[in-house]
Amino acid sequence: MFEKVTKIAQEVAAFDISNKEQLEQFRILYTGRKGQIADLFDDIKNIAPDQRKAYGQEVNKLKEQAQAKFTQALEQLDASVGNFELAIDFSLPPVPHTMGTRHPLSVVREEIIRIFERLGFNLSEGPEIEDDWHNFTALNFPENHPARDMQDTFFVEGDMLLRTHTSSVQVRVMENEKPPIRTLSPGRVYRNEAISARAHCVFHQIEGLFIDENVSFADLKQTLYYFVQEMFGKETKIRFRPSFFPFTEPSAEIDISCLICKGTGCNICKHTGWVEIGGSGMVDPEVLKNCNIDPEKYSGFAFGMGIERITMLKYQIKDLRLFTENDIRFLRQFESL
Ligand code: DAH
Repeated sequence: MFEKVTKIAQEVAAFDISNKEQLEQFRILYTGRKGQIADLFDDIKNIAPDQRKAYGQEVNKLKEQAQAKFTQALEQLDASVGNFELAIDFSLPPVPHTMGTRHPLSVVREEIIRIFERLGFNLSEGPEIEDDWHNFTALNFPENHPARDMQDTFFVEGDMLLRTHTSSVQVRVMENEKPPIRTLSPGRVYRNEAISARAHCVFHQIEGLFIDENVSFADLKQTLYYFVQEMFGKETKIRFRPSFFPFTEPSAEIDISCLICKGTGCNICKHTGWVEIGGSGMVDPEVLKNCNIDPEKYSGFAFGMGIERITMLKYQIKDLRLFTENDIRFLRQFESL
């Protein structure tokens, strides 16, 4: 008879209770009113009278142990969140916490904005799907200008198109604000170009516009000189090369001394010692008129730079396609920025 008690005691000790079903199973088998421990009490009548006391003590001990096991398991299961089964394997190694990184173009855009912010420039933006007026006509592009050609511009419908430059935002700002204006407009632009290491049909520009009384070309030069020194380092030189844009007069292309060879001549600068970063000029009086700003009273300058171009020069990136391929081996190199 005592062996039966010992056997059930062993079973009780070995029984694994890790979910509600097993707990219920345990109750039915052992602690419940019709369970095996209750049967053991019934058996007492078959025990020799002189052994009944010892037997009773054994069975009582077993009953207490089983009850304690039941109560403890119940509490543990209730404590697991929402009574769900705990499905976490605590022996697994932790999943490393990986942080995303900012895209190099975002990093550089922010850096450009920070520099011009110190000169009092604010931010403005305009739509990527633009009308002909803001992208071309108001900017003094003649009706038959080649840039309007199907080869350069993605036309959408009617006179709507994907803006080919951020200069369209200049027009929107001048139409809506009164001078003094000092604004920076970063954004995506589109051109119908075949994708290669040096060209893409989608890229980013950042436009600057400064309109006030008595603004001169000297202000333009000083502003961009400050920018170049802050962005590329004090030893970087800047030069303005006469050029033409329909919306500025005079116009100049902005070159900086090559960062790779420091002006001595290399492949990047095609052995000239200089690389172009954008265009600039004094806003054409016709453009001011188109935007209802009096050219007799106000003058101003504007500039536009390619964000990809500046990023490529700053970090010596040789292929434009890397910016859009999302190869994390490339992107991870900018982790610390
Ligand atoms: N919009 C011109 C381009 O995409 C760049 C540019 C040139 C912008 C001269 C300007 C400027 O604001 O004054 O090529």
